[in-house]
Amino acid sequence: PSRRGSMADMPKDLLGEIKRLEEIFTVDTAKLKAISEHFISELAKGLSKEGGSIPMNPTWVMGFPTGYETGTFLALDMGGTNLRVCEINLPEEKGEFDIIQSKYKMPEELKTGNADELWGYIADCLQQFIEYHHEGEKLDKLPLGFTFSYPATQNYIDHGVLQRWTKGFDIDGVEGKDVVPPFEKALEERGVPIKLTALINDTTGTLIASAYTDSEMKIGCIFGTGCNAAYFEHAGEVPKLEDWKMDPKQEIAINCEWGAFDNEHKILPRTQYDIIIDKDSPRPGQQAFEKMIAGLYLGELFRLVLVDLHEQPHVQIFQDQDISKLKKPYSLDASFLSDIENDPYENLQETYDIFYDRLKINCSKPELELIRRLAELIGTRSARLSACGVAAICKKKGYKTAHVGADGSVFNKYPHFKQRGAQALKEILDWEKGRDGKPLGRGHDPVEILPAEDGSGVGAALIAALTLKRVQEGKV
Ligand code: GLC
Repeated sequence: PSRRGSMADMPKDLLGEIKRLEEIFTVDTAKLKAISEHFISELAKGLSKEGGSIPMNPTWVMGFPTGYETGTFLALDMGGTNLRVCEINLPEEKGEFDIIQSKYKMPEELKTGNADELWGYIADCLQQFIEYHHEGEKLDKLPLGFTFSYPATQNYIDHGVLQRWTKGFDIDGVEGKDVVPPFEKALEERGVPIKLTALINDTTGTLIASAYTDSEMKIGCIFGTGCNAAYFEHAGEVPKLEDWKMDPKQEIAINCEWGAFDNEHKILPRTQYDIIIDKDSPRPGQQAFEKMIAGLYLGELFRLVLVDLHEQPHVQIFQDQDISKLKKPYSLDASFLSDIENDPYENLQETYDIFYDRLKINCSKPELELIRRLAELIGTRSARLSACGVAAICKKKGYKTAHVGADGSVFNKYPHFKQRGAQALKEILDWEKGRDGKPLGRGHDPVEILPAEDGSGVGAALIAALTLKRVQEGKV
């Protein structure tokens, strides 16, 4: 049955709601362009001495890898969901690497617990990893690249002051402080033979890991629990680095922390539901862009809309159903939406089953139609807004062509995210008009967002290797 055809059987109230949701969640080409233009000026503001709302943090990662980096390194990835420890060997061969890794669950209580417990838990995981993989060996201190994916300001690559927690973390006594000393203290207390060599962001790791195997890589992005990007600037273009008296031609990777874009609410088309997400989060007023896009929030947005519709007297939805499960904040994650969007559509049987199994709600056909459309709207908005950030960096840098390395659960697993993002990029950058009248080259888009190499593993190891090399050369 055709989709539009079945919409014709929709009760008027639900049809009206679908129309309203389409209006508030759709971002048309003109709006995408306006957002991207504003984004460009905000990127520049972040690089200025006065600063702006996007942090634009210099990372002290100076230039691309050659592909010939060598050595053995540990990498620690403190993401939102898992803690991952890797050992990476970079052999002599260009662009090659071997990796062994272990994953540890990041207990939910830790995210809102206290700082000592956090560092203690991480140090315990590292200790376990070393005991398991190097049992009985006498080790020199192993160099570690620590992927700490939160906004941190750095005066040195092996230090970082947490500006603020993001992605729902809320651990007292860490914001505004250097995270490295308490981390090293926890290692020392346990006698773990590790030396932190570089503290990095997942986006910077993604950029460097991808550039290791692809020389056209210009931007590293994460579309996952959070959303962010890193790219290279020339020091001369970064006024806030003026006091460092760097060679203006020196390249330095910038961790944008673009999740904070439009914290002052000037341009993003926020809905009443985005406003609730923000208000109820541990850091209201922060990460305005991220809260409309990232995996942590997609399921919650969807849930808030459905609960709101249920509460409207003029809308008949989930009548006589017990919606207590649906009422629990953050009970639906982005994979719930993925599953709905993955439903092959015939009768929306899978969507029906998911609602019944997970929420004990028995949906009617029109309700299923609305649910499906809502998931599409939220998923599409996420991909289209994400493209604005990518387009802004390309425009700011004047890139006519570029590869963008992307990682994260939303990019890798959310249905149609890649195509929707690519479509939005085309609209913003006007490729459909056939710029220069020339063909777009090898059948590819000029700017392509591609699956990245493992940034918080291989990328962290490469950055540790590049750092040690700079130390040897007396450049640090
Ligand atoms: C959040 C963090 C940022 C990270 C991103 C993706 O935006 O603040 O540091 O890169 O999530 O994990």
